[in-house]
Amino acid sequence: MKRVAILISGGGSNMLALVRDMAGDHPARPVLVGSNDPGAGGLAKAEALGIPTAALDHRAYASRAAFEADLADRIDAARPDILCLAGFMRILTPGFIRRYQGRMLNIHPSLLPKYPGLQTHARALAAGDTAAGCTVHEVTADLDAGPILGQARVPVLPGDTEDSLAARVLGMEHRLYPAVLRRFAAGDRTPVLLS
Ligand code: GAR
Repeated sequence: MKRVAILISGGGSNMLALVRDMAGDHPARPVLVGSNDPGAGGLAKAEALGIPTAALDHRAYASRAAFEADLADRIDAARPDILCLAGFMRILTPGFIRRYQGRMLNIHPSLLPKYPGLQTHARALAAGDTAAGCTVHEVTADLDAGPILGQARVPVLPGDTEDSLAARVLGMEHRLYPAVLRRFAAGDRTPVLLS
């Protein structure tokens, strides 16, 4: 059985989708949910499910490296085989990424390589795109540019706002990330494609 740690910064809806899927014949189980924000709504949801949590406040650290050193200690104490970033909104240093390289995944709300970084839905709307979506990729030192493990596409509809498009994409995120994690935990990196 593979052990999975999940890092969040917010509501944790992707974390919940991953955790709910990790049951029965799934090859992995959640061992830790960590956050850089003790107020992240997802922490209470993880606790309610009986999953150990680690709440660190990145603002309390003198440097990014000091924050990451503590975070890595908490993660390593849980002995995860796989680390899933699920709405984790801190940039990670190359040292942290090297430590988990090959076993760290991220979900990003765009069809990468389009729109790395922030404001993905606003940028898709401004460009007049007719399709949007989300991507799960391996985390490498290049921001939002590691090998793609899965992608899901949704239409952009007439009258869409940033919020309506974000909600449609988020619904697909909740299908895509569990599907990719299931495959990845079984040792299969073939990309999952959903639409
Ligand atoms: C998700 O839409 C995720 O793709 C995005 O943050 C949201 C978190 O929602 N991640 C990024 O933008 C990463 N750069 P959640 O906390 O409900 O899972």
